[in-house]
Amino acid sequence: MSPARAKVAKVAKAGAGKRPRATASPARGTISLLEAVPFACAAYARDDGTLVAANRRFDDEFAALPEHGQREQLLARLSEGALDEAESPEVRAPHSGRWYSLHWGQAQHDGQPLALLTAIDISERIEALDSRKSQQEKLLFTSRMMSVGEMAATLAHELNQPLAAIVNYLNGSLRLVDQAGGPAQVERALQAARTQAEHAAAVISRVREFVRAREPRRDAQDVHAMAATVLELLRLEAERQQLRIDVALAASLPHVYADRVMVEQVLLNLVKNAIESMRGIPAAKRELRVEGRVNLDDEVEIRVCDRGTGLSSAEQDQLFSPFFTTKNDGLGIGLAICRSIIEYHKGRLFFEPHEGGGSVFGFTLPRYEAGGDQ
Ligand SMILES: Nc1ncnc2c1ncn2[C@@H]1O[C@H](COP(=O)(O)OP(=O)(O)OP(=O)(O)O)[C@@H](O)[C@H]1O
Ligand SMILES: [Mg+2]
Repeated sequence: MSPARAKVAKVAKAGAGKRPRATASPARGTISLLEAVPFACAAYARDDGTLVAANRRFDDEFAALPEHGQREQLLARLSEGALDEAESPEVRAPHSGRWYSLHWGQAQHDGQPLALLTAIDISERIEALDSRKSQQEKLLFTSRMMSVGEMAATLAHELNQPLAAIVNYLNGSLRLVDQAGGPAQVERALQAARTQAEHAAAVISRVREFVRAREPRRDAQDVHAMAATVLELLRLEAERQQLRIDVALAASLPHVYADRVMVEQVLLNLVKNAIESMRGIPAAKRELRVEGRVNLDDEVEIRVCDRGTGLSSAEQDQLFSPFFTTKNDGLGIGLAICRSIIEYHKGRLFFEPHEGGGSVFGFTLPRYEAGGDQ
């Protein structure tokens, strides 16, 4: 083994922090040359790919990787985090998280053919690109939130008055029924109508507050309680369709970090869509199930599963676009609003076909971490 190779063996074994330097050896010339390169630079034997020499920068940046002593092994390790394809010269060093652009050249030293590697640190450029991308995404999201917000503000304004009037009329009617000893069914129906109107009013005042403050109130919320509220609101509609809604939420489901009214709105929209999708299905085949569990990413995942018409692939493509609807009486904004709300909560809204027919619409929410800085 040549003295230069002997040094390589030492380099390959050296752990992080140790910086083997060449002593009096034929490689010394190579090394002093490499020291002059202002980037991490190393020479590998062209025949078997072992490291022959490296400059101080290379040692500083790559010696901590056990694979750095052998060209192919180092490349394999680095290309695990390559930007696009395996061939990409832009790689991410797994031990430091820094990005490098790799360049190869040919050289001869003492008659030994060498492959010269120069690794240029491009982390700053990659980070700048990343932050521009996330800024763009943020902008897109904000503009979607704003258009939904503006629409909501108009609706809230238009609906507030009639809702207040409805609640007043209902309260008046309830008093009259009570005084006159009217039938219990009428009283129940009036109470149900009042619950609905009050919920609508709460949604609207929450929307107004949201649009004004742009800052919903997120806190620890119990999914069981939110589901119960929504199902109570949809009870009449479900009964009308002879539909039972099964709730299968894990008993130990952790609290989520969410704005209660907003998440109830999402669940309401999804369950309503599920009910509507089964309008034309024979009553015996209608099935609606709300499931909840903690998923593999440790998020709370809620799924609304129906046995309705399902969706064609063309419909799936447009599903979340505002104003896409296949219903005569639909506005096509239900899912767009759901998506904005869920993305605001750093969750994900998704669709998947239901095995055996129908659809599954689901969303994820972060679990509430007591004391965490959410
Ligand atoms: N559970 C479901 N099963 C089948 N199709 C669905 C389901 N949920 C949504 N869709 C399809 O997606 C479309 C968009 O739904 P979205 O809730 O956004 O609007 P919409 O229900 O049509 O109207 P609205 O604005 O009143 O909610 C629906 O018109 C329907 O075609
Ligand atoms: Mg809808």
